[in-house]
Amino acid sequence: MASIVVVGAQFGDEGKGKIVDLLAEKADLVVRFNGGNNAGHTVVVQGKKYKFHLLPSGALQGKKCLIGAGVALDPLVLKEEMKQLEGEFSPKLLIDPRTQIIMPWHNALDGAKEAAKGKAKIGTTGRGIGPCYADRANRAGIRFCDLVDAERLREKIEEGFAENENVLKKVYNAEMPVSKEAIFAEYNALGKEFAKSMADVSMEANRALNEGKSVLFEGAQGTFLDNDFGTYPFVTSSHPIAGGIFTGVGLGIRKIERVIGIVKAYTTRVGEGPFVTELEGRLAESVREKGQEFGTTTGRPRRVGWLDLVLLRTAARLNGFTEIALTKIDVLSGMKTIKVCTGYKCNGKLLKELPADLELLSECAPVYREMPGFEIKGSEKKFGNLPKEAREYVAFIEKEVGVPASIVSVGPDREETIVR
Ligand code: IMP
Repeated sequence: MASIVVVGAQFGDEGKGKIVDLLAEKADLVVRFNGGNNAGHTVVVQGKKYKFHLLPSGALQGKKCLIGAGVALDPLVLKEEMKQLEGEFSPKLLIDPRTQIIMPWHNALDGAKEAAKGKAKIGTTGRGIGPCYADRANRAGIRFCDLVDAERLREKIEEGFAENENVLKKVYNAEMPVSKEAIFAEYNALGKEFAKSMADVSMEANRALNEGKSVLFEGAQGTFLDNDFGTYPFVTSSHPIAGGIFTGVGLGIRKIERVIGIVKAYTTRVGEGPFVTELEGRLAESVREKGQEFGTTTGRPRRVGWLDLVLLRTAARLNGFTEIALTKIDVLSGMKTIKVCTGYKCNGKLLKELPADLELLSECAPVYREMPGFEIKGSEKKFGNLPKEAREYVAFIEKEVGVPASIVSVGPDREETIVR
């Protein structure tokens, strides 16, 4: 049995797509367990860029791609993504009947709620994620098994439309963007199109593991966007931590062997919320440009900052990392010195892990260790050939996080990866 989990160790956008693409080569199944098209994965194959939001990144390896119950699925986006691959790749797609469907009113509510919050906004991706998961918790969601059944879909749309039109109008003074009839016609057609993909993903994944097959679980977003353990309320509405797999797929907790935390060599964040090691000015701009730190989903410039070991130690505990994959170390290439945050100074105390209370966090100042810079070439294949200073940077992270860095990515292309 080989069960590997890939999760983001920071605020998302750590480069999970590339690592999943690499690992997917040896996997039989690739399963997504959380989030929706708020995610954005970029995979570069021989210079050609592919962008995914919903499909597991393993799609480019022609693997069986599974979408688990914990995902919020926008079928319009899925249709577009399948079209993007037409003629080149034909992934076998399976969708769990329990998967929640994002409806047009979720998008409208996401926008209306953010607008109403004004300065206190979360900075969501506007993809209807929060309202969709709220409906799930309220037991008012439309699931994939409803989407594929015309009669049930009509009933669910009747209910959902009426209630959400009311909320939009009365609470937010906003309009429902599309008519009920148009929604039914479009979603009914989508249901028909994807009906053949319906399969119990929990059963499929468990069966594969019991047969000794290799299953790769692909997390979206990152640890500190977790609905419980992230920087609440500046989080997403699902569970990107490794624990999210058990409820997001339907898997026993003893089934996982390897948990790979994807760590970007510095930190980025999109949207609002605390960011202790954030940089501003020219240095931030140059890292943003060099690392192409612009959202895959919304195109927003990402906030950038130094690597934060307080976050990484916390992430190692929350996810139970067995190893990490360090990405984008090449982006730091050419700097004279590099800073790493080793702790937070907070009201006279030194914190080594992230506090739960954002008020306390707002009083924290980073404590840095300054390390010598290095030059890295993307073509480098052997870890031992990297400059001594780069190896020391990696070793310092390994020591602080407590697990080895089994993969070091030195450039965006599939080829620019050191597997140790
Ligand atoms: P939502 O998930 O669209 O509700 O957005 C909530 C927060 O999570 C916002 O700060 C988003 O920018 C952030 N977020 C959601 N998905 C991603 C992602 O895939 N990468 C990075 N940030 C994300």
